[in-house]
This record gives sequence, structure tokens and C-alpha cells, in this order.
Amino acid sequence: MLSNLKPQAPDKILMLIEEFKADTRQGKIDLGVGVYKDPQGVTPVMRAVKAAEQRIWESQTTKAYTGLAGEADYRNAMAQMVLKDVPTDRLASLATVGGTGAIRQALELARLANPDFTVYVSDPTWPNHLSIMKFMGVPFVEYRYFDNDTRGVDFAAMKEDIAKAKQGDIVLLHGCCHNPTGANLTLAQWEEVAEILEKSGAVPLIDLAYQGFGDGLEEDAAATRLIAKRLPEVLIAASCSKNFGIYRERTGILFALAENSAARDLSQGSMAYLNRQNYSFPPDHGARIVSTILTDEALRADWAAELEEVRNSMLGLRAQLASELRDLSGSDRFDFIAEHRGMFSRLGATPEQVAKLKSEAAIYMVGDSRLNIAGLNKDTVPVLARAIIDAGI
Ligand code: LMR
Repeated sequence: MLSNLKPQAPDKILMLIEEFKADTRQGKIDLGVGVYKDPQGVTPVMRAVKAAEQRIWESQTTKAYTGLAGEADYRNAMAQMVLKDVPTDRLASLATVGGTGAIRQALELARLANPDFTVYVSDPTWPNHLSIMKFMGVPFVEYRYFDNDTRGVDFAAMKEDIAKAKQGDIVLLHGCCHNPTGANLTLAQWEEVAEILEKSGAVPLIDLAYQGFGDGLEEDAAATRLIAKRLPEVLIAASCSKNFGIYRERTGILFALAENSAARDLSQGSMAYLNRQNYSFPPDHGARIVSTILTDEALRADWAAELEEVRNSMLGLRAQLASELRDLSGSDRFDFIAEHRGMFSRLGATPEQVAKLKSEAAIYMVGDSRLNIAGLNKDTVPVLARAIIDAGI
């Protein structure tokens, strides 16, 4: 049986981790996978996370199963953090295995509700969105998003394309910090997106994996809140991997905002059922860390302060890189790097140029020229800037 298996194409982002490890060159720079690193290249455990773990260790009396949908404390705290004004009578929620688990369960839920649906995804999007949909056999079409000339959003084209989504279709949107491009909509543009979806009845699925990494915790949730205020049905897949730095704990959540409380109850039941079918109970440790932090004033304040340090350090690196490139290129054509938000920017380089950066300068980024800003530090920014110019980008 097992010899009938076919080799699977390796994930392009994860493959880079192995390639980078195997590279023996001094001074190599990893701008691949989306993991925050401090200036020393370490992905730290956040202070509040350590403190919460200690509290859990001291006070936890059982490791018995949680609820199928996860603990209410976690789901309520996350609903507060993401939505602020929580329409409790319409909101179903499900603890999931990371943000990826939330995306998967959202698609499963949409399929249970309407087997004949199409997903509209941005071109480009996180490659695993596409991979999951291909694996599930869910039809999808891409909507135009990134303008390679301006390195911003081609909003006119995006509007034209998402207007084609019909009632019961899903439009997958990045709530903030677009992955892989770093180019984002303004709030006024989000209003227009809401209007288009209102007209068509297509349901937004918001992927919110980087809340707190762009313009701030509240600011990064503003688009999601706006959509949730205006539309009768919204799916939100949120991740705690990055903003709590608990990548390996696999802590995510799916929210389904339903039209009314009866539809909410149906959604809640179906979501718990989906957890049961896929992996039964969701992991609890990461969720408990998050709820411990979010429900304690002092821990929350310390976590929010450290998250701000992380966000500001990325903004500083963006400004430094844009300025180095302005000097080296004698032009403002790299200013978009300072305007992009989140962990990533898409440089708009060709695959050959990206390969050249790897072979000649030992700089690793995803083949579509997505670079992880958090993989840089003050000393490596000038090295990257020089290499970008030398590669003819
Ligand atoms: C990324 O885009 O690099 C991260 O979301 C990590 C991953 O799983 O791909």
C-alpha cells in the first residue's frame, strides 16, 4: 500500500529552512520563513508567556480534556481582542490547531454549508492557502491584488474581480499585514470591499495571522471589525503564533459570525463536530497561555509592550532598508518597503534575481521575492541593500 504513495512537492517556504541550515557560508542571512527574530537572530519566548506558563504550572490541577470547541475563557478573550464589541448572540468560535487549522476548518465549514462554492483568493496569497484548497478539492479563483509596478495594491482590479463572487462563495482576505506582499488596503478601501460583499452575498473569510505586527493591536483589527459590523456573515481565522510568539504551541481560533442566534447555534455545533472529525479536542496549552495573559491586566500590559517593541523594531528595519536603498540606487523606487506593513515585503524581483541573492550573497528569501523583515538587523540591512543593487533588482 505505502509504496503506491507519490512524492509530494515540498513546501516552498519550509524547504528554505533546510537549505539555509545546510549552507556553510559565514554571514548567511535568512529572510525566509515568517518567524520573528530579535537582533541576535533568536526567536524569544515573550516575557508574559514565560510568566503565564509559570502560573499555569503552579495552578493547573488537571490535564483532562477541554471542551471540543476549546475553553470558553480563551475564545472569549480572543473575541474581545479581535472584535472588541462582540456580538455574542451571533458569534460562534472554535479553538483550532494554529491559524492554519482555523483556515482549514473555515473551508470545511463553508463546504458543509454549501458544497458548491468557490473561494476567491488574492494573487498572490500565502502559498499554503492554495495548497490546502487543492488538497481539499475546493475550487478557487484568484483576484488581482498586487501591482508589481507600484508594489502597492491594484485596488481597481481587485474590486472588479471580487465583485464576481456570488452568494455562498468565499472571499479570502488578509485582515492586515498581507502575506506575502506587505501591501495593504486603507480603511476607506475596506469600506468599499464591504459594500461589494454586501451586494453579492459572498462571505468574507478573514485571515488574521499578524494582529499587532503592522500598525498596532487595535489598528490591525480595524478592518476585521469594520467588516464584522457591516456584514451578516463573516468567517475569521486568527492565529496566536506570531503575536504571542508561540508558534509551536499551535494556537488559533475560528470565528463564525452568523446572521442570527439560530444560525450561530448551528455554526457552533458544526464547528465542534469538525474538530471531532479532524483531531477531536484542540490543543490547550497555548490557548491557556493566551487567556492567562489577556485576562490579567499586568500580564496583558507587559505582553502588549513587548509586542510593540517587536513591531517598532520591524518598522525601524523597514525605514533603514528603504533609506539605504534610496542612497545606493539614487532613487525612491524602494520607498515601498517603508510603506509596507507586517513581517513581509515583496521586492518584485525575478526568480533569477532571487537565486542570485542566494548563490552570490547567501541571502535567502522566498522565490517570489518575499522577504521577512524580521530576519534582518541593523548590521545586515546594508549587506542586503548592497546585494539587492548588485543583483540588478
Ligand atoms: C510564513 O508564511 O512564512 C509563515 O506563515 C509560516 C508558514 O507556515 O508558512
